[in-house]
Amino acid sequence: MLSIRDNELLTQVGPGMPMGQLMRYYWQPVCSVQDLAASPFRTKEVEILGEKLVVFRDRQGRLGLVEGHCSHRRASLAYGVVENDGIRCQYHGWKFDHSGRCLEQPFEDTTHPEDRFREKCGIRGYRVEELAGLVFAYLGPEPAPLLPRWAPLVYDNAVRDIAITELPCNWLQAQENSLDPVHLEWLHNYSGSYFAQIMAGEEPELGEYQPRHQKIGFDVFEYGIIKRRLTIGNTEEHDEWRIGHPILFPNVLVVGNPLANIVQFRVPIDDNRTLHFSVYTWRPAPGFDAPKQDSIPSRWVPLRDENDRLLVNHVFNQDYTCWVSQGPIAERNLEKLGKSDEGVILFRKMLLDQLKRVQSGHEPAINVFRDPSSNVSLELQLERAKYGGQVTLQDVTYRPLEAGCSRDADKIEAVLRTWQHIDPKWAAGEIPELEPVLASH
Ligand code: FES
Ligand SMILES: [Fe+2]
Repeated sequence: MLSIRDNELLTQVGPGMPMGQLMRYYWQPVCSVQDLAASPFRTKEVEILGEKLVVFRDRQGRLGLVEGHCSHRRASLAYGVVENDGIRCQYHGWKFDHSGRCLEQPFEDTTHPEDRFREKCGIRGYRVEELAGLVFAYLGPEPAPLLPRWAPLVYDNAVRDIAITELPCNWLQAQENSLDPVHLEWLHNYSGSYFAQIMAGEEPELGEYQPRHQKIGFDVFEYGIIKRRLTIGNTEEHDEWRIGHPILFPNVLVVGNPLANIVQFRVPIDDNRTLHFSVYTWRPAPGFDAPKQDSIPSRWVPLRDENDRLLVNHVFNQDYTCWVSQGPIAERNLEKLGKSDEGVILFRKMLLDQLKRVQSGHEPAINVFRDPSSNVSLELQLERAKYGGQVTLQDVTYRPLEAGCSRDADKIEAVLRTWQHIDPKWAAGEIPELEPVLASH
């Protein structure tokens, strides 16, 4: 359990709150490039860390991110006129540059230029950068660190897809799930097959079920925590124990293998809502080219069915259902944590330690990157793909892990098909094997 005070410390993310301060040291995705491009206004309203903002792309193609409302009489800049060097409020023509500086106030400038009123009328403007089909923002103190270039986000010769969900719950519920190996066998296996039978209109069979996890382990590493599991029938030589999954501090998870993986960002919108981004990447077999994507597609993932029930028929939707069902902010003061929650406890401690650092005037000690030469591609140790050599036609079917389907499903399958040309007898150690559907996370 956690005290009410510590629960508040870890979950309140607005400006001025300790966790809000910590989170502001980290670049966060705010929307997809595709969603911004789809707006005829060249703008998109976004909300993160308790701040309502507007992203825009100016006439020169540069991204901007400013406070959502004009400093004059608070009209929404989402309906502003995007110009060469900034955004002009549609209501009375005040214009702001990318840093939020007020450049023009047409009436005041004409009638009372000597007042220099506009110098007092700036709005907040933040740094923004594009990577892997996402728009990332930095809301923290200057000098800004570098946007981390996690390897899966910068592989070339790959096909990508982005899935976005708005979750009505606090970010920490999502991230704690990544430190919880045991839920895999219950939520996704036992309960997952129960759900599947119900969804198929069948009376579910309740078979005997033997717990599969024998041991779980967690190690702090340079970028966060590595989560390991040992399940029945495997030895410590198995990738799930030997390599494990990286959880990147503070709110990112990477699952999969070097050939098919997912980077998930759990971005706080405010204390009670989370914007969840999954960036999927598929790479072709050596010697093959991935089909070109004109743009990286993004899609919104539904959370509920037509009866307003939370969806449970996709792996990630099963996770979303559990996080949302814990309530807007889980009452951690009422929990009963067992040995299976060792990773959750370690992660909370890591957060509290870094919070203390920030409160004492330092920047966090993890994942604040300032050296461009070591931020070209941040390599992560990922498990090799499972199911050695089982590359069959059936295996190269794209099966979305969350509700909906990628616009580029045909390109994803084209990448998967390249693996049919690989000799299945190749040793697992020489070449990572393909796993189109990720079995564990
Ligand atoms: S409200 Fe924006 S210029 Fe008046
Ligand atoms: Fe899960």
